[in-house]
Amino acid sequence: MFRAPGRVNLIGEHTDYNLGFVLPVALHLACSVAAAPSPDDRLRVHSGERCESREWLAAASGDLTPVHNWSDYPAGVARELVRAGYRIEPKLLLVHSTVPEGSGLSSSAALEVSSALALLGDQKIEPLRLAELCRAAEVGFVGTPCGIMDQFVSVFARENAALLIDCRSLDGQAVVLPENVEILAVNSMVKHALGQSAYKERTEECAAAVDAIRQADPAVKSLRDVTVALLEKTTPSMPHVIGRRARHVVTENERVTQFVNASRRRDVERLGQLMVESHLSLQHDYEVSCAELDFLVDTAIGIDGVLGARMTGGGFGGCTVNLLHRGAGERFRHEISAAYQERFGITPQIVECHPSGGAGEVKNSERSPGPAALSR
Ligand code: GLA
Repeated sequence: MFRAPGRVNLIGEHTDYNLGFVLPVALHLACSVAAAPSPDDRLRVHSGERCESREWLAAASGDLTPVHNWSDYPAGVARELVRAGYRIEPKLLLVHSTVPEGSGLSSSAALEVSSALALLGDQKIEPLRLAELCRAAEVGFVGTPCGIMDQFVSVFARENAALLIDCRSLDGQAVVLPENVEILAVNSMVKHALGQSAYKERTEECAAAVDAIRQADPAVKSLRDVTVALLEKTTPSMPHVIGRRARHVVTENERVTQFVNASRRRDVERLGQLMVESHLSLQHDYEVSCAELDFLVDTAIGIDGVLGARMTGGGFGGCTVNLLHRGAGERFRHEISAAYQERFGITPQIVECHPSGGAGEVKNSERSPGPAALSR
């Protein structure tokens, strides 16, 4: 059995595909894939939650095409693995996930990475290659544009720490958070359809910003190479909206660095402020928030014991991430749920975020009793 975690991103949003910095935390919520030998020459993937299966000739894994449901994630990973020279053998795979889908907690990366490990079995793979192949499956097979953050943290996360990822050098560094805080994600339970087209549009707007800035400084290859001073000098040469998109990315990269430094100083108030600044930048400059997320953030920061809050993930729904003084969680849950329920008629799901370790094989002793064991 193999496990890969979902994640919540503390800060550094829409910076990964601009080769900047991100600071996600892997969750205890994870996808598990159990693998058994197949009685024939086929590969079968079964989802426990959906009670649905997909199967194909293992030897034909390189020729798979999308069918536009959950099974495209393991199928896409199988095709990428074949293309990268790995063997796909006949197997039975049973998938079970506790990462809520469509919540912005990276259920897809968890499914991709755990499937990849189960498909690989004994074949060795470099961890970075694993993350990159899973991302390639999501972009090239499933057809969802994304950066490297989700797959990277699912593979490389360290227990009890956030992971600072430099998306240009692809280095990951564990960042231990102050002990006197707790992190809660609040799931708005909405996912606006606009999300995917807007994500693609933002990547194009960032590319347009880079083109404009390159006129002034030909060394600039991505928004990662742009300082606030250079941006200020070059913004007049670009359309207003492109300037605002670039300003979000450039200032967000700075906020990640400041967040890591504040975390090392144990300055929890500053951590909270940076999260709120990040949200405002995503709301007004990058325009990827929505009424539900803005409401959750505005309400959260008015609750006693809350240090800061922001939307997390791609946006247009999904979750907010909230930083609290340790011990303030109970009151927060109650107040945020009541306010959201009253305003939108929806009960939000609240997820405790305890930094968990990255993907790997689950040893027998670590397994929780499955349904078969329970019925015995
Ligand atoms: C989605 C993508 C990530 C990242 C975030 C925004 O979650 O999968 O790669 O771009 O959006 O930070």
